[in-house]
Amino acid sequence: MPTSISSPACLPVVVFLITGASKGLGRAIATVASRYYAQQQKQQPTLRHNTYINSSYSSLSSSSSCLSSTKQARFVLVARSSKGLQETKNEILSTSTIAEAEEVEANKKAALSVDSNSTITFPIMNTLMSSTTTTLTTTANEDDVICRTMDLSDLDRLDDNIDILVDDVDRLVYGCDNNGDDQNQRHDMDVDVVFVNNAGSLGHLGPTISSPSLMDMRQTIDLNITSSLWLSVRFAQYVKQQQQEQKRRPRKIINISNATIVNISSLLAISDDILSMGIYSTGKAARERYHTIIGKEEIKRIKKKDDESYNNSNNNIIIREEEEGQNNKNNSNTAAIKTLNYAPGPLETDMAKEIRKKADELDVDLKPHFQKKLLDSYDSAMKLIRVIDKNEFDSGSHIDFYDLP
Ligand SMILES: NC(=O)c1ccc[n+]([C@@H]2O[C@H](COP(=O)([O-])OP(=O)(O)OC[C@H]3O[C@@H](n4cnc5c(N)ncnc54)[C@H](OP(=O)(O)O)[C@@H]3O)[C@@H](O)[C@H]2O)c1
Repeated sequence: MPTSISSPACLPVVVFLITGASKGLGRAIATVASRYYAQQQKQQPTLRHNTYINSSYSSLSSSSSCLSSTKQARFVLVARSSKGLQETKNEILSTSTIAEAEEVEANKKAALSVDSNSTITFPIMNTLMSSTTTTLTTTANEDDVICRTMDLSDLDRLDDNIDILVDDVDRLVYGCDNNGDDQNQRHDMDVDVVFVNNAGSLGHLGPTISSPSLMDMRQTIDLNITSSLWLSVRFAQYVKQQQQEQKRRPRKIINISNATIVNISSLLAISDDILSMGIYSTGKAARERYHTIIGKEEIKRIKKKDDESYNNSNNNIIIREEEEGQNNKNNSNTAAIKTLNYAPGPLETDMAKEIRKKADELDVDLKPHFQKKLLDSYDSAMKLIRVIDKNEFDSGSHIDFYDLP
């Protein structure tokens, strides 16, 4: 019956780890991602439905292919405020509900516009429609959103905290293995992982040499540089470890096919024309450089690997799978971790409010920029999610909100 067509077990999964998700841009990215992928699922039944009605019923019931262009989003959300995180989680869950309602509505409309020459009778189609509406709706539920309250500037506890986050990501990545209809049947599952390295703070505002104390400077650098860089390193190491394990266990059915680290950057990372935000700019510049280098090192590693395998094949060297201990044909085993530095534009968030409060400290040329209404975080988040999903950006590059359509 058609129910097997739309088994949620087949849906590829995308797992987001988002720091600074209790408010502002982090919350917007989480909510928009949830909405975006739910929306994709919503559109899919209609597409599939139009295909169904042009095919025979027997081909419907025999089909068991997975939906290729939809993904189910899952989240690990991190910040200090548990209240803020819970609100973000509620937003994610409620956007899923909206998408579900729209999905049901779209399916009803599709059912009404069925061609009268269709070979499918209405009773059969009704069954089909009800099955697609119920089984394709695999938007986020309670268990798909994990909230972690932690202070990422506490470097003494950072490694232990990252252990917790990595375990959470792992649970969401491999959790998709548990839904399988038939555990004996191998059906490869692609999982994307995205780390949005977003948490940040302003630090001292005003002339750089009026920096108040060593402690103040250190706290700002701890969060905005050291913690941020180390989070990306540990995330990358987690991905690599999973890829190595796949090498040792070639029959594993879950593949981390795409791994992306998004460093939330700023125009200030690449411009030295904006004054009186010295420590903030320095943090953004350091993060930008580090993530660019991670991206470039990965590109070089893959290129070297490709060159080696090209040379090997030219020399007719047959590499036996047993020797390699892996399935060499599986690209995901060698997939590069991609990095992206995304400058979200000037946003109307608490950070902007904080800047306004200290307007008197700001450089005279900078002050007017914060006196007008700034961008909506959700618009910026939407552009970012599209870039991530398309996955056509150059790894290590800097993309600004204003560069995007
Ligand atoms: N706003 C802008 O105009 C703008 C422009 C360009 C780039 N950005 C960048 O965008 C990112 C988000 O900024 P935003 O405007 O959304 O700022 P925001 O509203 O102040 O949010 C900052 C987020 O970081 C979290 N955070 C701060 N310190 C933390 C800590 N020690 N441990 C864990 N989490 C911490 C906050 O959560 P808790 O307080 O709950 O911990 C909050 O979720 C930042 O990297 C910022 O530099 C912002």
